[in-house]
Amino acid sequence: MDNWLTVYGLSAICIAMQFSSSRAGFLERNYPPSVSEDAHMTTLELLAKYKYPNEAHFVTTSDNYILGMHRIPRPGAQPVLLVHGILDSSATWIMMGPQSGLAYYLYDSGYDVWMGNSRGNTYSRNHTSLDPNEDSAFWNFSWHEMGIYDLPAMIDTVLNVTRFAKLTYYGHSQGSTSFFVMASKLPEYNDKVHLMNGFTPVAFLGHMKTPTFHLIITKVLIFTGSNEAIELYRHSHDNMHICLLSVLSMRFCLYYLFSAIGNNERELNKTMIPVIFGHLPAGCSTLQIKHYLQLTRSGRFHAFDYGAKINRRIYGRLDPPDYPIGRITAPIALYYTHNDPISVPEDVQRLANQLPNVVVNHLYSNPKWNHLDIMWGASMRFRTHPHILAISRQFEKTIENEHSFDLRI
Ligand SMILES: *[C@@H]1O[C@H](CO)[C@@H](O)[C@H](O)[C@H]1NC(C)=O
Ligand SMILES: *[C@@H]1O[C@H](CO)[C@@H](O)[C@H](O)[C@H]1NC(C)=O
Ligand SMILES: *[C@@H]1O[C@H](CO)[C@@H](O)[C@H](O)[C@H]1NC(C)=O
Ligand SMILES: *[C@@H]1O[C@H](CO)[C@@H](O)[C@H](O)[C@H]1NC(C)=O
Repeated sequence: MDNWLTVYGLSAICIAMQFSSSRAGFLERNYPPSVSEDAHMTTLELLAKYKYPNEAHFVTTSDNYILGMHRIPRPGAQPVLLVHGILDSSATWIMMGPQSGLAYYLYDSGYDVWMGNSRGNTYSRNHTSLDPNEDSAFWNFSWHEMGIYDLPAMIDTVLNVTRFAKLTYYGHSQGSTSFFVMASKLPEYNDKVHLMNGFTPVAFLGHMKTPTFHLIITKVLIFTGSNEAIELYRHSHDNMHICLLSVLSMRFCLYYLFSAIGNNERELNKTMIPVIFGHLPAGCSTLQIKHYLQLTRSGRFHAFDYGAKINRRIYGRLDPPDYPIGRITAPIALYYTHNDPISVPEDVQRLANQLPNVVVNHLYSNPKWNHLDIMWGASMRFRTHPHILAISRQFEKTIENEHSFDLRI
C-alpha cells in the first residue's frame, strides 16, 4: 500500500517537473500573497516583516564551524534558547506566524529569545576553513558533534552576551538528542540551564515506526555512492522548491512529510503549507541519519558506530559507548504525543526512567497529535504553550523553596 503510494507520488513529481515551467506562479495563483512571501523569506526577514526586533549572531565552535544564531532581543530579560530538529532550522519557531509561533509567544511574554541553527543547515553552512561545497570533511559530523560543540558554543554566547548565569532551553527532537549528548558528556553545562524543555524528545529509538518505504528511500540516498559523509536535502531560498510547483507535487510532499512525522490534518493550518515547504528541509549530513538508524537497530543511546576497527581506535572498545544519561542533572521536562512514529511513547518512557531529574513527564492525551504539532499545531498557543511557559517560569525564579513547585498540567 505504502509502496504503491510512493510510486504514484514519484510519478506525480515527474509530471509536475515536466510542466514546471508552465506552472510557474502556482503559489501566487493559489495562496494569499503574504503566504507565498513568507515561504521565500529567511528567519530574519520574517521577524522584520512581522515587526519584531531581530539580530543575527555568528558563533564559532571550538572545532571551527560557524553557526548563525537568530535573536529576538529583549536586553536585560531572561534568555531562552530554542533548538530545532533534524532537517529543520530556526524558522520552525516562527514560520506559522505571530499568532502561533512559540518564539513570538516567548518574546511577547517578556523573554530574550535566541534561536540556534545546528551545523550544516541553511544558516550554518559555514566554517573558518572548510568549504561546505568543496570539502566533504565539512559534512563529517552527526548530532554527537552538535551536542559536544554546537550547543556549548551557543549557550556560552547567549550567557556571555546577556550576562545571565542560566538560560531556559527548548529543544525539539534532535534539539533534545544533542542536549542529552551535551549534558551527559559535559556535565558542567547542566548548571547553565534552569530547565530543559524537550518536545517529542529522541534518545532511544527501538520502537520507531517510520514506514518501510521511507527507510528504503533514506537508505538508498545515504548508502549509495561512497562511504563518505555528504550533504542531504540542501535548502535554497533562490531555487523554487520542488514541493511548491503544483498541487500534485505539494500533496506528495505533504504525504511524504506526514508519513514520517504522523498524519494530523486537523492541527495543520492548510493555508500555511507553502511556508513549511519554503523552509524545510533545511539540509543535514548523512551521518546524522546514519547515527539515528544505528539507534533503531541497537535499541541503545550510544555514540556513532564506526565499525569495530575504528571504534577500537576512537573509543578503545569494539562497540560504541552509551551516553551516560544518568549524569544529567539539569531539570528536564518531557512533552510528547501519541501519533508520533519517531518519538514513540514507549521509548520516551524508557528515557524518562533513566534520567535522574525529570520534573515533567507529559504524554498529551490527544491521540492525533504528531511529532511537530507542539510547535506547528494551530491550537497550541492555547492548548500547550501557556502551561509549558508557566512551568518554565517556576524554574527561572531564584530557587528558595523547591518544594513549593506546582507542576500540574
Ligand atoms: C560565515 O560567517 C561569517 C562570520 O564569521 C559571516 O560574515 C558570513 O556571512 C557567513 N557566511 C554564510 C554563508 O553564512
Ligand atoms: C571524521 O570524524 C571522525 C571523528 O571525529 C574522525 O575519526 C575521522 O577521521 C573523520 N573522517 C574524515 C574523513 O575526516
Ligand atoms: C565567554 O566569556 C568567557 C570569559 O569572558 C570567555 O572565556 C569565553 O571564550 C566566551 N565564550 C564565548 C562563546 O563567547
Ligand atoms: C491560517 O493561516 C492564515 C494565513 O497566515 C491565517 O490568516 C489564519 O488565521 C490561520 N488560521 C488559523 C486557524 O490559525
